[in-house]
Amino acid sequence: LVAGVDTSTQSCKIVVRDAETGALVRTGSAKHPDGTEVDPRHWWDAFQEAAAAAGGLADVAALSVGGQQHGMVVLDADGNVIRPALLWNDNRSAPSAEALITELGEGSRETGAQAWADAVGSVLVASLTVTKLRWLHDNEPENAARVAAVALPHDWLSWRIAGYGPADDPTAPLGPQLDKLFTDRSDASGTGYYDAAVGEYRLDLLERGLGRTDVVLPRVVGVAEAGAVAHPSVAGSAVDPSTGSGTGCLIGPGAGDNAGASLGLGMTSGDIAISIGTSGVVSAVAPKRTADGSGAINGFADATGNALMLAVTLNAARVLDAAREVLDVDFDGLAELALQAPPGSDGLVLVPYLEGERTPNRPDATGTLHGIRLATSTRAHLARAYIEGMLCGLADGLDALRAQGVSVDRVMLIGGAAQSPAVQQIAPQVFGLPIGIPEPGEYVADGAARQAAWTLAAAGDPEAAAPAWSTTIATTLDADPKPAIREQYAAVRDLV
Ligand code: XUL
Repeated sequence: LVAGVDTSTQSCKIVVRDAETGALVRTGSAKHPDGTEVDPRHWWDAFQEAAAAAGGLADVAALSVGGQQHGMVVLDADGNVIRPALLWNDNRSAPSAEALITELGEGSRETGAQAWADAVGSVLVASLTVTKLRWLHDNEPENAARVAAVALPHDWLSWRIAGYGPADDPTAPLGPQLDKLFTDRSDASGTGYYDAAVGEYRLDLLERGLGRTDVVLPRVVGVAEAGAVAHPSVAGSAVDPSTGSGTGCLIGPGAGDNAGASLGLGMTSGDIAISIGTSGVVSAVAPKRTADGSGAINGFADATGNALMLAVTLNAARVLDAAREVLDVDFDGLAELALQAPPGSDGLVLVPYLEGERTPNRPDATGTLHGIRLATSTRAHLARAYIEGMLCGLADGLDALRAQGVSVDRVMLIGGAAQSPAVQQIAPQVFGLPIGIPEPGEYVADGAARQAAWTLAAAGDPEAAAPAWSTTIATTLDADPKPAIREQYAAVRDLV
C-alpha cells in the first residue's frame, strides 16, 4: 500500500491506495485552523488525526506529501518554528515583492520583473517565499536573526513524519537535524530562490530576501527519489519486507499542491486544469517554462521533470461563499438562483477582487459590482454575477497561458465548486471550450499517492516510470460560447 497526503490551507487529507492498481483502500482527513498565518504545529496535529482516521499507516510501504505552496516555515537551530508560517495567501509582503523587483532591476521595475522571470520563472508577488523572508528581515529582525533553516509546508511535514523536530518534542524522537530536510523541484520552484531549469538554489536571490545565506535549505531530491524513511511510530512499522521496500515506509519527494494535482489528474502537454478552490488555479504542463515578465504566469516545475505553468487567482471558491453569505442560501440554492438569470446577468458585473488579487497583480484591489439597476436588483442576477465574475477571473488566467504559447487541447474543471450545476452551465459559456469534469476526488493526495507508488517502484528499479493510474472524466460539457459575458466583464475590469 501507498499513501498520499495533502496538507492544504484548511485541512489534512490522506488517501491510502494499492501500489500496483491504484485502487482506493482507505481515506482520512482532519481540519486545522486556517487563515494567512498559521502555526505549522497544527498541520502536524491534523496529519496525525487524519492518519488515525485512515486507520493508521503501519501497513504503508511509501508515502508522499503534497502541500500548499510557498508558505514560509522558519526554524531555529533547535528545530523550533520561530513564528507562525506566513502562507501563500498572506499579502503583507506585497511591498517587499515590489522592492525586490526594483532592486534586481537596479531601479527599473520592468527590467527587474523580467530578470526575476528569467531567473526563477516568476515575477515576484506576495505569495512567493522570498518576499516573506524579506518582510521578516525588515519587520522582525530578531526573528530573522534566529533563522537556521527555511522550509515549505510539505517539506516540514515530511521531516516531521521522518521523526525529526524540536529537541523537546516527544513526537520527534530523532530531534532537530535540520540537514535532513528535503523537498522536491515543484515546491522549490515556488520559493523565488530556486531555478528549476538548472536544478539549483540561487543563493544570491535568497540573500536579497533574508539578507544572508548561512541557513539550511531543504535538499532537492529527484522526481522518484525517497528523501527519508518514515519513523516507525508514524508509518511503515508493519510493512511486509517481501512486498514493501523492506525498510519501513519510504517518504517520496512530495510536491507543491498544484504539481500534485497535475500528477493526480495524469496531465500531459495540452491539458489544462482549472481548479476552483481557496485559490483559483489555471495550470498547464509544458515541456519547458517560459519567462513571463508581465507576471501573469508563474513558470513553476511539475513533479515529473516538466514545467508547470500557472495563473493563480486569490478569488475563487470564497467568492461563491461570499455570495452564499450575502444571499443567505446554501450551495444548491446559489446554483438555483444563478440559473434563473440570463447569461451576462443583464449587465450586472462583479469584478471579484474581494481579497486583493494576484493575477492581475493588484494586492490592494477591492471588488466592484457594476451595472445595478432596478431590473438587475434581484437575488438571481446577483448570484449569477458572482459566478460569472469568478469564472471570468479564471478565464483571464487562461488567456494569459495562451499568450505564453501553451497549447489548449482539453480543459478539466476541478475543485468542489466544479460540482455546482450553475458553474457547470456557465463555465462553457465563459471559457468557450468543451470542459471535462473528472470524478470528484482528492487530486493532490491522489497525485502524492501516485508519486509514492513511483518512489516505491524506483527503489527497486531506478528506471521505473510513474504508474499509469487513469482519471475518469465523469461529465463532458459542450462549448457554449457567450462572448458578451467576457466582453462586459473586461470593460468593467479595465475601469477598476
Ligand atoms: C500557487 C499558490 C496556491 C497554493 C494553494 O502558486 O499559491 O495554489 O499552492 O494551496
